[in-house]
Amino acid sequence: MSQPVRLLMLCLGNICRSPMAEGAFRARLQAAGLEDDVQVDSAGIGPWHAGEPPDPRAIACARGHGVDIAGQRARQLAATDFQRFDWILAADADNLQALQGRRPRDATARATLLLPWATGEADAAAIPDPYTGDAADFERVWAMVDGAAEAAVRQRVWQRRVDG
Ligand code: 4NP
Repeated sequence: MSQPVRLLMLCLGNICRSPMAEGAFRARLQAAGLEDDVQVDSAGIGPWHAGEPPDPRAIACARGHGVDIAGQRARQLAATDFQRFDWILAADADNLQALQGRRPRDATARATLLLPWATGEADAAAIPDPYTGDAADFERVWAMVDGAAEAAVRQRVWQRRVDG
C-alpha cells in the first residue's frame, strides 16, 4: 500500500475545535474503511492546555454524536509538524496566519483553512471559537467539522492538488 496521507487539524488551544475535527474525520474515515489511508492528528497554536483532554463540552458534544474524543491529549504545534504532515488545516484565519508565521524554511506541509479545503467552497466560513460560548456553540462547531469530514471523505479531497 502507498504511504498514508497525513492531516493535522489546527486551532488555538487544541481542546475544542481541532479535537472535534480530529474525531469527526477519524469516524468518517473509519466508516468508509479509509483509516489506514488517511491519518489524522490535531494541535494548537498555543501551549496553555498541553497534556489536557479536550474541553468537557467538546467531549460531551462529540459523544452525543457517537464519537469518543476523551482519549485525546492537547499539544502545541511543533516545527517538525511542517515535515510530518501533508496538510495542516486551520480552523480560522487567525490560526492560519499564526501557522504561516511559524513555517520553517524546509517545510513541506501545505497549509490552508479546513472548511474551504474539505468542501471545495472557497468562501466557506471559518470555524468560530466556542471556548467562551455554550453547548449550542459546540453543536455548531460539530456540524461544521462533521460536514467537512463528510464532504472530504466523499470527495477524497486529499487526492486533489490544491494550492496552499
Ligand atoms: P480551541 O478553543 O482553539 O477551539 O481549542 C480555545 C481553547 C482555549 C483557549 C482558546 C480557544 N484559551 O485561550 O485557553
